[in-house]
Amino acid sequence: MNIFVFLQSRKVMWPSGQALVCKTSYSSSILLVTSTQNLLCFNAIGFFIRMKPIVLVGFSGSGKSTLGKRLAACLGLTFYDLDAELEKRYSISIMAFFQKYGENAFRICERSLFLELLGRGESVISTGGGTPCFFDTMDTIVERAFSIYIKLSPKSLCNRILNSKRKRPLLLGKSEAELLAYIEETLFSREKYYSRANMVLKGEDLSSKDLLAALLNEFDGAFHERQGQSQ
Ligand code: S3P
Repeated sequence: MNIFVFLQSRKVMWPSGQALVCKTSYSSSILLVTSTQNLLCFNAIGFFIRMKPIVLVGFSGSGKSTLGKRLAACLGLTFYDLDAELEKRYSISIMAFFQKYGENAFRICERSLFLELLGRGESVISTGGGTPCFFDTMDTIVERAFSIYIKLSPKSLCNRILNSKRKRPLLLGKSEAELLAYIEETLFSREKYYSRANMVLKGEDLSSKDLLAALLNEFDGAFHERQGQSQ
């Protein structure tokens, strides 16, 4: 489908005097673009992802949901937060689910709902911190999605979790020192799953807005690198 891109309500001329007709699978409507850089990134994202769902992975507190929401809005895609979808589907909070049915049941329901969301096609999905680390879910993500790992140090994750209002059953009731030790240990064992993502985004000290800009820059840089290689 051909999409005309508008920059501040004007049709963008790209490149060198040619009107831009952006071939992208991401939207059937006109894209509103706020900067030339974003415009380049839309092209780059389309080039890399090619109609796959975008899946965000990373530890609790890494900012998957906030970035996912922003990215989906920027691309005009549906956003799914797996935890929120699970709470909606079973009409129960994640906290209460763990207490009532236990972690094993949670992992089974989490996987099944994740596969369902993945099957809905183009979208942005933020996973739970454990989603890619159980069963063969990371294999599925690698095969069927374009994945992004938001990577933060254990210390930053710990600070962010301590400042967050979200209740997380696996982290509840831990002192700061216990929480940091748990994150270090769990992150160490999960890193092998997370690091298989297509793109690793260093989220250290970045606001969600800066994180989105960093992600778009990554796409842009990688896009130009690929173009350079193919010339
Ligand atoms: C979990 C992370 C949580 C949630 C559940 C289990 C985990 O999601 O899925 O509490 O195993 O790390 P967030 O990453 O959004 O905190």
